[in-house]
Amino acid sequence: MFRLLCILIGYFIGCFQTAYILGKTVRKIDIRQFGSGNAGTTNVIRVMGWKSGIITFAGDLLKGILAVLICKMIFPENLSAGLYAGCAAVAGHNWPVFLKFKGGKGIATTIGILLAFDFKIGIICAAIMAIVILITRFVSLGSILMAISIPVLFSIFWRSNYELMILALLLMGSALFRHRTNIERLLSGKESKLGQRSNKKL
Ligand code: G3P
Repeated sequence: MFRLLCILIGYFIGCFQTAYILGKTVRKIDIRQFGSGNAGTTNVIRVMGWKSGIITFAGDLLKGILAVLICKMIFPENLSAGLYAGCAAVAGHNWPVFLKFKGGKGIATTIGILLAFDFKIGIICAAIMAIVILITRFVSLGSILMAISIPVLFSIFWRSNYELMILALLLMGSALFRHRTNIERLLSGKESKLGQRSNKKL
């Protein structure tokens, strides 16, 4: 029963679409029709600039943190509660019911979830992502490698807990699934680098 409640709470927190709301209020655009079409930090930087991008990142990170902390607080005796809420928050971010199931890729939210669930895993994941982005300037590559490192880190720190391992695999799976067009673009050399502006309508 606690799982179902965590999933519901997490999903509806995740549905709060920072990028979409910012696009509509600041520029009167639907961010999903511009740039990569993604409702997330990278595309907001690409289309609307750094300031809006940082606000988007903060909003999406915060909802990951909130989802985990709220469910940890409601169900302190259930270790997995926070991570169920976190996975559901990513689902709400990626497939929001209020926006015809077209949202973002869940990366900032995932980092928020990890920081709130297990701070050291969150920091390591954020560091991996930051280093890859600094070296390559491909946010998508940083996101993909960060996602792959989640189950690896859980297998180091939470090896004996199969439920947590499955949820960690789910977080990785949804990130990789949402980055499949990025993977194609990276392989064909067509992926855009951080800092390349675009106002192109899709
Ligand atoms: O977090 C999303 C990022 O990894 C890729 O975004 O807009 O380049 O598809 P985008």
